[in-house]
Amino acid sequence: MSDRFEHPQALRPDEFRRIGEQALDIAARHLEAVVERPIRPMPDASTRQTIMEQALPIQGHAPEDILSFLEHEIMPHARGNGHPGFMGWVISPPAHMAVLTELPGVAMDSPCGGSGQGATYVELTAIRWIKEMLGFDHPGSHGIFVSGGSMANLTALAGARHAAANKHGWNMRRDGMRNAPDFTVYTSRETHACVTKSMELMGMGHDAIRLIDTNDAYRMDINALTKTLEKDIEVGRVPFCIVASAGTVNTGAIDDLDAVADLCSQHDIWFHVDGAYGAFGALDPDKADAFAGMARADSIALDPHKWLSVPFDCGCVLVRDGQNLRDTFSLIPAYIRGTDSESSEIGSPHEYSFQLSRAFRALKVWSTLMHVGVDGFRDTVHRHNTMAASLAEDV
Ligand SMILES: Cc1ncc(COP(=O)(O)O)c(C=O)c1O
Repeated sequence: MSDRFEHPQALRPDEFRRIGEQALDIAARHLEAVVERPIRPMPDASTRQTIMEQALPIQGHAPEDILSFLEHEIMPHARGNGHPGFMGWVISPPAHMAVLTELPGVAMDSPCGGSGQGATYVELTAIRWIKEMLGFDHPGSHGIFVSGGSMANLTALAGARHAAANKHGWNMRRDGMRNAPDFTVYTSRETHACVTKSMELMGMGHDAIRLIDTNDAYRMDINALTKTLEKDIEVGRVPFCIVASAGTVNTGAIDDLDAVADLCSQHDIWFHVDGAYGAFGALDPDKADAFAGMARADSIALDPHKWLSVPFDCGCVLVRDGQNLRDTFSLIPAYIRGTDSESSEIGSPHEYSFQLSRAFRALKVWSTLMHVGVDGFRDTVHRHNTMAASLAEDV
């Protein structure tokens, strides 16, 4: 019988442990030294050359050499998330328990498109926890981890269009956009670029987007939205979704979510909230009022890799009607039919988004939430908002 540790990609157990300890030390040194390094290093030409001009390894290198290259040539040029002075965008430092659970999680190497494995149940649990944190735990609701906010918004918009097509007797999956109803989306000028990219990718183009003006506080002007929407309905356009922001990327503006929810329910339109970085702002008791209406959404896009400090990458989409999302994406090829519990009530994760093979993203959300707890995040979010208010006052 062949020795399974003879394979080129394997390390013998004692070697795995020895090298693993070195890897752990490197990670610990990196996290300890974050404050001493530049916040935003700018790798010079010779650094770029060192990294980019390595020759294709025809023969493998020793594990120690690989780790040494990582520590000395690559890691010093990490962006300084976690440095107390790092205030760029909405990028957080990595939650330490998520860093530590990543190694055993990767050792599992779970193909998380399929169901019926430990990873599936962790994902369902982590999704339920997020729904509970945001008051979105509606019967029949569902959610899935994706690469980030962009993919979460795209996934939700595809679900919204599918629902609208069904309502209009249009078979979107069979007939696509050719001769389709004039589906149109509404969102503010401050919306994230990924909404536009999603519309391009869905074959709908910029003409199907109504960019609504904002008021002095950079929030979507509800009067302008109502007027544009009603005029469009009169001329035969088919509004399929209103995208409201729960924290715009430029200014942090939160649209009037309750007003948008009212308008959506009046016209039977899908209400989507882009809360990529902002949704967890609802945890701050002092700010919760601004998020009133978010739980009325048909879908929410949010990013654990932003305010929850889950290391990249990890986005999440929540939907009120899980079955609609499954109908939007489920396509089970013959070679995997019957291998999963796809005939079960919930089915497999790959039925709810574009991805088939998926990483075990849920693990880092689960371990972070297990460690920090909702109280820990409530304190963090409140502290950040207090610091932002104090900075604004100083400015
Ligand atoms: C409001 C908003 N939506 C969407 C995104 C895109 O998210 P991601 O970068 O995770 O794809 C961002 C990113 O900053 C954002 O702030």
